[in-house]
Amino acid sequence: MKLAPSILSADFSCLGAQVKEATSAGADYLHIDVMDGHFVPNISFGAPVMKSLDSLDTAPYDVHLMIENPDRYISDFVTEKTEFITVHQEACIHLHRTLQHIKSFGISAGVAVNPGTPVQMLESVIEDVDLVLVMSVNPGFGGQSLIPSTLRKIERLAEFKEKEGLSYQIEIDGGVKKENISQVLSAGAEIIVAGSAVFGAKDISQAVRDLKEASSR
Ligand code: DX5
Ligand code: ZN
Repeated sequence: MKLAPSILSADFSCLGAQVKEATSAGADYLHIDVMDGHFVPNISFGAPVMKSLDSLDTAPYDVHLMIENPDRYISDFVTEKTEFITVHQEACIHLHRTLQHIKSFGISAGVAVNPGTPVQMLESVIEDVDLVLVMSVNPGFGGQSLIPSTLRKIERLAEFKEKEGLSYQIEIDGGVKKENISQVLSAGAEIIVAGSAVFGAKDISQAVRDLKEASSR
């Protein structure tokens, strides 16, 4: 299991220290939640905030673009530390071309689906993606509760991946905690986003270790 703490829930007044702490405790990625106030009802931050972390010794970036017309901004999020750039199926008019655009930078391309979007919507691109991000909350905010029906989508994606011998990774995003992480993993999730469970905790390092430990049970 790989853990991607979402910086949306971090204390931005000491963001550098907090992401370094999460990294040294074992975080595999930093989940960068970019929100434009149009595609989702919240505005978070843009590329300059992510790039302020470039010189720090941190885990690579798992960029989640919750924005309209993501094509315009892909290159802004390309840095040495960018591992994934994920766009929403619901935000792309030419999804296949957008995914190709991400890959043209040598970066792994992800596609995200909201709780209301069936995974069948990914049929025509599923062989071209490196990551499928299943939203287990409605996007826009950290600290929400996981929507149980979304686990069925994780199971479907895991079954399909196995049956077709595909290599996309399955990421779940929203409401994952110590209490539900084993359920989420047995559904087939491989990368776990956790915002409030990590950066909302009193002890960030302990929270990272607890999640990693809970996943090995
Ligand atoms: C929601 C974001 C999630 C969120 C996760 O729109 O995409 O990444 O920050 O936060 P928690 O883990 O607190 O639900
Ligand atoms: Zn996210």
